[in-house]
Amino acid sequence: MAPSAASSILLLLALLHPAAAAARHRHRLAASLRAAPPDASPPPTTFFEVDRPIRPPRGSAGPCSALLLSGTFGATYGRPPATAAYAPPACLGAARARGAGLALAVLEWSADCRGRQFDRIFGVWLAGAELLRSCTAEPRPNGILWSVSRDVTRYAALLAEPGEVAVYLGNLVDKTYTGVYHANLTLHLYFHAAPPQQQQQADLILPISRSLPLNDGQWFAIQNSTDVQSKRLAIPSKTYRAVLEVFVSFHSNDEFWYTNPPNDYIQANNLSNVPGNGAFREVVARVDGEVVGAVWPFTVIYTGGVNPLLWRPITGIGSFNLPTYDIEITPFLGKLLDGKEHDFGFGVTDALDVWYIDANLHLWLDHKSEKTTGSLLSYDASGLDYNVNSEFSGLDGQFVTSASRHMSATGWVKSSYGEVTTTFYQRFSYENSNVFRKNGTVQIVNQTIDAKSGIFAKDASSVLLSGEFHEVFPLYLYTGTSDKVGDEYSLDSLVKFGINEKKTSGGKLGFSFNSLQNAQSARGTMRVKKNLVVSGLGKTDQVYKYVGTDGCYFRDVSSRNYTILFDRSDDSCSKGAYSGASTKLNNQSARRKLLVNKL
Ligand SMILES: *[C@@H]1O[C@H](CO)[C@@H](O)[C@H](O)[C@H]1NC(C)=O
Ligand SMILES: *[C@@H]1O[C@H](CO)[C@@H](O)[C@H](O)[C@H]1NC(C)=O
Ligand SMILES: *[C@@H]1O[C@H](CO)[C@@H](O)[C@H](O)[C@H]1NC(C)=O
Ligand SMILES: *[C@@H]1O[C@H](CO)[C@@H](O)[C@H](O)[C@H]1NC(C)=O
Ligand SMILES: *[C@@H]1O[C@H](CO)[C@@H](O)[C@H](O)[C@H]1NC(C)=O
Ligand SMILES: *[C@@H]1O[C@H](CO)[C@@H](O)[C@H](O)[C@H]1NC(C)=O
Ligand SMILES: *[C@@H]1O[C@H](CO)[C@@H](O)[C@H](O)[C@H]1NC(C)=O
Repeated sequence: MAPSAASSILLLLALLHPAAAAARHRHRLAASLRAAPPDASPPPTTFFEVDRPIRPPRGSAGPCSALLLSGTFGATYGRPPATAAYAPPACLGAARARGAGLALAVLEWSADCRGRQFDRIFGVWLAGAELLRSCTAEPRPNGILWSVSRDVTRYAALLAEPGEVAVYLGNLVDKTYTGVYHANLTLHLYFHAAPPQQQQQADLILPISRSLPLNDGQWFAIQNSTDVQSKRLAIPSKTYRAVLEVFVSFHSNDEFWYTNPPNDYIQANNLSNVPGNGAFREVVARVDGEVVGAVWPFTVIYTGGVNPLLWRPITGIGSFNLPTYDIEITPFLGKLLDGKEHDFGFGVTDALDVWYIDANLHLWLDHKSEKTTGSLLSYDASGLDYNVNSEFSGLDGQFVTSASRHMSATGWVKSSYGEVTTTFYQRFSYENSNVFRKNGTVQIVNQTIDAKSGIFAKDASSVLLSGEFHEVFPLYLYTGTSDKVGDEYSLDSLVKFGINEKKTSGGKLGFSFNSLQNAQSARGTMRVKKNLVVSGLGKTDQVYKYVGTDGCYFRDVSSRNYTILFDRSDDSCSKGAYSGASTKLNNQSARRKLLVNKL
């Protein structure tokens, strides 16, 4: 079977080769297990990912909603994506005609499933540009429901044109794995009374993905460390800004890449079924072979990962709405404005089979001139710094890996809006400690990814944009296997991970600030027989704190085995208890005060 049936494949193979499965489970956590059905007949369970609600701007009208696609995903693995013709909803045309701007566009996926099924990765594309990367929830016999919404306002240019919607969700159905996914994809639009003074969204979005027809998703499948997948495309010669938005997910041998031991440990212990290549990965983006940026991805854990009981009904951070990553490539525009095709490519350092990657190239065009010009002024991409300290004896040992990368580029672009000099930088650091104990039956991973990026754009007279984005992804993962008898074993696990972000932006478009602390702590036990969870317990706590100039959101929620123990949320910015940063951030003068205090 090809590797692209997402995270479940290893398990299906493992079922056919119990010895291999046993070896695998002894040394690392299980991939995407499926919980055994409970006996009662409760109503369908609603699963959810904790996120802040997407709110239309004050005073906007809507929503005007349109069903884009309604699909059934049964035996869809290795088949063409479900597709539907997209025509811009009439309300969008009408709003444009009366001069009203798009205030917010939300793409909503809502789905149900009943029976037994693995977690499946899926993607949604419009005209080849990816709009959503997600993982399905694992069903129960009595059924489950879930929905996920993504703010797709930045794709306004795509939404205004006819195109084709495609959804690839590779599912397999048989006597054991009976779950068929049904899903509706709906677009909700909100409008301003008048067009905004300054348009923030790109004028054109070019997909860097595979074109249909395909018996797969439109993503590139990157299978090893030398595999670079790319697309050649020409951009309009009147482009003055360009941003690459990258979609990433990792599966099969790299589903838990941060737990992979180095190859010398694997060889010394004859662990032919344990994925290796060490515990560091990064996605590197190249234009005409030159590094323009990197993505050090958040460690999304899919709904069947580690212990499936942990993610019911609160799913893992990012699992229903995988994060995307922006790389500003404006400094490099000078080379790309010649009207010729250029090569946009992606590779993954130390990759094992398989990474699904594609990107959308967001372009801003000069409406008053047919030609912009530009040039790169400085460029520094010194490459990856990488170090592993490895110490082991038999199956026990410790592997400490650290890595860092820095890149920066400055370039100017001259358009009818002036000559703008843009600097973009990225600074990454990574620390990972992997400890194996008790003859390799216990594994403890402690990892921190720290990613900082910044953009600074100025013209002759002023600073147009000065922004900084800092993300920290901590991860602590304990797994302990015990009581192994034949094809049965027990697994204790503890997962603590999260996303901490801070974003500031200043310049002509005004000041904005937001900070997010989103953390999950999940603890579970399970007894596994032939890759079926026969008994167990999962408990998950999540605290989500968002404070921004666009509002605040707080949620503290806890679940155990499908049951919500408590769920508190608050969207006011005034509760000092929830936000160390500030109070009443919605208030202009308070906002300025915050800025002054920070300076
Ligand atoms: C999809 O929409 C149809 C028609 O409104 C509805 O009957 C069905 O329940 C929806 N399915 C899901 C999974 O939301
Ligand atoms: C890496 O993957 C590419 C693309 O599938 C393949 O052509 C190549 O042979 C692979 N290289 C190795 C060393 O496996
Ligand atoms: C690994 O396999 C080799 C060759 O079959 C054997 O000589 C060696 O003892 C094995 N090592 C371990 C740790 O099992
Ligand atoms: C450790 O595990 C190996 C491989 O499973 C096994 O051969 C060995 O007997 C174990 N050693 C101890 C001390 O349990
Ligand atoms: C994880 O590592 C960091 C330093 O890299 C350390 O501060 C932290 O205490 C470690 N966490 C655990 C639970 O060991
Ligand atoms: C949790 O769910 C598992 C699997 O259905 C079950 O074996 C276990 O008894 C449950 N535990 C509790 C405390 O509800
Ligand atoms: C905004 O905050 C300032 C300072 O806290 C306060 O004096 C003012 O009344 C607030 N304005 C509104 C509209 O809430």
